Amino acid sequence: MRIAIISDIHGNYPALAAVLADAKKQGIHGYVFAGDYCLSGPYMNECLAAVRAIPGAYIIRGNEENYLERLIGADQTKWTDGQMQISYYSYRIMPKENLDYLMALPYTIDIECNGVPIHIAHDRSAFLGNEIDGDHWRSSSLAEKYAGRTVTQEQLGEDIRRANDGDGLLQEKLKSMAAGVYIFGHTHVQWHYRSKDGRIVLINPGACGLPLDCQPGTVPYAVLEVTDDGEVTVDERRVPWDLEGYVKTLMESSQYTGARVWTEVIRRELLTGREQLIFFLRFAEEYAQSFGDERRPYAIDTWEKAYELWSAQE
Ligand SMILES: [Fe+2]
Repeated sequence: MRIAIISDIHGNYPALAAVLADAKKQGIHGYVFAGDYCLSGPYMNECLAAVRAIPGAYIIRGNEENYLERLIGADQTKWTDGQMQISYYSYRIMPKENLDYLMALPYTIDIECNGVPIHIAHDRSAFLGNEIDGDHWRSSSLAEKYAGRTVTQEQLGEDIRRANDGDGLLQEKLKSMAAGVYIFGHTHVQWHYRSKDGRIVLINPGACGLPLDCQPGTVPYAVLEVTDDGEVTVDERRVPWDLEGYVKTLMESSQYTGARVWTEVIRRELLTGREQLIFFLRFAEEYAQSFGDERRPYAIDTWEKAYELWSAQE
């Protein structure tokens, strides 16, 4: 059995189409989608149509879907801040039918394949708890570690494997977990790890629609193979796609008009393949505090001025 694992599409249909086309050539028997279908790209409805058209796919909900849930039934005349513009935009372009579909998705799915238990959740904390929070998995840490250079997937995988091997808390946790495969996304960094005793395989397929693992120009997903006798292998795939073309349509889209600052930050993340949002949010917080602005979410004037100052720094 070969299972394609795709996560964090974030409204990026061209990336999803590239990944699905690659998966078609890989002899795939099943699909897993590990959450975050919307926010950041304008094509979430196209993405949902493609995901829903795959018969028998295992589909769970991510944290971005929660932002839309919080807006259901809210008073739209109060949507006047800058920070939440991307959520307001996404909510407004999503038909109720799609929203209902997302809200009905499960947060976790457990399946079994050739005798191997497979657990799926959006965030690794569902399996590892909150105390295991490896710095080496974070997109912001990678952006600093690999500043000014790209990294190959082999090198990144090796760096993360070594860091996992030396992470005492993680090693202790793995010993207490049931044998099986644990699939999650959320951090937008592609990696997988087999425990030292071989009982457990952790898989983050990376973010199909918004990769932040310092490899601009390709989009990630993973192929999990479970043989008839229960042997597990993982192929971390990276697929070339039309990054420049997507960025161009992004800047010409209604999302750019509806959520300009957010879309600018996403454009930077796509082009560099690394975390930008966390650094911008830190800057915006310092900027707002510098003149005692306590409005949260950030008001339009603060949000836009913060971006103007932050982007002028580089
Ligand atoms: Fe995500």
